[in-house]
Amino acid sequence: MTHRTLAVVSAGLSQPSSTRLLADQLAGATRDELARRGHEVDVRVVDLRQYAHDVVNNMLTGFPPTTLREAIDAVTGADGIIAVTPIFSASYNGLFKSFFDVLDAGSLVDRPVLIGATGGTARHSLALEHAVRPMFSYLRAVVVPTAVFAAPEDWSDGTADGALRGRIRRAAGELADQIERRPPASGPADPFALTTDFLQMLGRGGDTTVS
Ligand SMILES: Cc1cc2nc3c(=O)[nH]c(=O)nc-3n(C[C@H](O)[C@H](O)[C@H](O)COP(=O)(O)O)c2cc1C
Repeated sequence: MTHRTLAVVSAGLSQPSSTRLLADQLAGATRDELARRGHEVDVRVVDLRQYAHDVVNNMLTGFPPTTLREAIDAVTGADGIIAVTPIFSASYNGLFKSFFDVLDAGSLVDRPVLIGATGGTARHSLALEHAVRPMFSYLRAVVVPTAVFAAPEDWSDGTADGALRGRIRRAAGELADQIERRPPASGPADPFALTTDFLQMLGRGGDTTVS
């Protein structure tokens, strides 16, 4: 048994939010699938609505306030990420994009990601393919093949209908596959970590003598 972490990012603005509902169902299905395969799973939900002001401050100052830093670390240090946005004007909403804009470059490289979206019309489901997937490809994350879109008619009384449940299960299985292929994550990347040996930077090669 290994210990795995899932970060769930929801950019829904309404309360209650259909985006959060979809995010929770994707998280539950992925957790169940990993548990079935013998993994212990911790789920951390990052409801971006709570961090909206902090995200803007981060964009203006270049630094995240402490609470946002913790949320960013939870996402960049997770074994797998579930990222769900409402569709606004045929794309991700601004809060979703701004959150991923403030992450350090390279912090999602090779990270398994399941993408999802909610919208007012199923006609905009391909926004996942023309907007959300390319953004994560640019960040060099590994996006699973099944992207899950939920339109209003896919729900009845807050419960996903059969077809949506099937897509959720398939996407969760794909995310679990990608997570299992990798060793457990070692936490968020340190943006200040030295990429070169300090002595080599001083031009001393392997000489450890201090004079
Ligand atoms: C400013 C705005 C723009 C929107 N644009 C679209 C759109 O282009 N396509 C679509 O399908 N739904 C659109 N919607 C509807 C939302 O995507 C939909 O209501 C979503 O499920 C809301 O998620 P929430 O309940 O988590 O807030 C828009 C909603 C708002 C407020």
